Amino acid sequence: MTTTREALAFDVYGTLVDPLAMADRIRGYAPDCDAAAVAEVWRRKQLEVSFRLAAMGRYEDFAWCTRRALGFALATAGQPLGSRDQDALAAEYEHLAAYPDAAPAMEELRGRGHALAVLSNGTPDMLAAVLRRTGLAEYLTEVISVHEVRTFKPAPEVYHHAARRLGRSPQEVRLVTSNAFDSIGAEAAGLRAAWVDRGGRPFEPDGAPPDVVVTSLAGLAAALPG
Ligand code: 2OP
Repeated sequence: MTTTREALAFDVYGTLVDPLAMADRIRGYAPDCDAAAVAEVWRRKQLEVSFRLAAMGRYEDFAWCTRRALGFALATAGQPLGSRDQDALAAEYEHLAAYPDAAPAMEELRGRGHALAVLSNGTPDMLAAVLRRTGLAEYLTEVISVHEVRTFKPAPEVYHHAARRLGRSPQEVRLVTSNAFDSIGAEAAGLRAAWVDRGGRPFEPDGAPPDVVVTSLAGLAAALPG
């Protein structure tokens, strides 16, 4: 009997690369601010804007969300930064480094016969750039952006679209994500999920952790069924 391994669709920001590492870049542009706090607000607002756009049935891409959220985060910190510098800082998103566990895990998972993809809010350009620079592109059979369906996670059509793109039924695809809201969204759409609990934070209150929970991608292959 042959078995088909689950296809694994990796979230990108927070799972393969760390958006909070933008704090280092922020320091280069605004040395006097609390860069870690600005990075936190930036990330939170970026997601909040994407949620609100999806709820309104309106679409602006994730680069737009990212740039707008940066302006908000800097204003919140009382940091005036010219528009050109803000554009340049937002563009640094494409230079985020991969978490050290990402490539070894993908190597192992590919070796075990899993089809590997990413499913991200990022625009196709953002994803192509960061996946090429980190070297993770070489492990992926598909790079799936929500841009293809013009809405954001956790809208169910995003996850259904990913399953279609991978040529699998939803239950044959497992979303691997450190974002608890993303895990809840994937399971609500009929996919499986694996939560990468990188920070030891509580799970989101509107759902329960999936059957696979790991603290880093290094433990993923061993934690997956069969
Ligand atoms: C991603 O889709 C949720 O930002 C996260 O990559």
